[in-house]
Amino acid sequence: MSADQTNFGSLPWPDVLPQHVAIVMDGNGRWAQARSLPRHAGHKAGVASVRAVTEACGKLGIKALTLFAFSSENWERPQAEVSVLMELFLRALQRETSRLARNNVRLRLIGDRTRFPPRLQEEIAAAEEKTANGTGLQLTIAASYGGRWDLTQAAAAAARAALAGELRPEQITPERLEGYLSTAGLPEPDLLIRTGGERRISNFLLWQFAYTELYFTDVLWPDFRAPELAQAFADFARRQRRFGRTPEQLEQLQRA
Ligand code: FPP
Repeated sequence: MSADQTNFGSLPWPDVLPQHVAIVMDGNGRWAQARSLPRHAGHKAGVASVRAVTEACGKLGIKALTLFAFSSENWERPQAEVSVLMELFLRALQRETSRLARNNVRLRLIGDRTRFPPRLQEEIAAAEEKTANGTGLQLTIAASYGGRWDLTQAAAAAARAALAGELRPEQITPERLEGYLSTAGLPEPDLLIRTGGERRISNFLLWQFAYTELYFTDVLWPDFRAPELAQAFADFARRQRRFGRTPEQLEQLQRA
């Protein structure tokens, strides 16, 4: 899609942009329901929003975009809906990977991938390999992901290292534990956007969100495109991020 088609260039993007944006893409089902369409039509429309938001973040030079596509709990949805989502992921990977690679985007998946159908697991590995040299936008898809799962697997990895004699318990610091999380190497998320009206974290990046700014909008995910992203970024640009310090301390730091 060209800049003109997305109305990209004419949007009022603020000067201060987040480095790492995380998004809970909620509201696909309600979007479909409102049009008397089956739920899967909402998920399909949601893929177009994924494309639009990824493209905008790439053009703006944002470092990292992490999208919550499927939670550990979503496995409990009706089997038919789970199958449709797996098929959508597969097709999106097959269709989009070359374009991502051409645009210098690196794609990675975080989550328990052992639960995916084998063909999808293979396609994910192939897409990660094909985009491994991407130094532009770091696009992370959280699928079969839960913040509790991530912390648990990090604790298990630390325990394995301790058992192997590579790590003593007193060496387990926040920084060290962070290195075992599936997001290791990414900057901390500056902004979480949740569409669809709910105001919850829903077991997304529990550790990583310690100082993340939260932005909630009633817009349903399939309606969330570049103009809505610009609005979220404008809201973010107005926030004062203190990281536990006082406003006076911050002013001093900014003057220094
Ligand atoms: C939540 O809406 C959305 C999901 C569980 C799936 C998200 C998937 C996509 C946007 C499709 C493709 C993604 C990629 C990365 C290619 P919901 O179904 O909970 O909506 P509701 O709250 O209105 O029922």
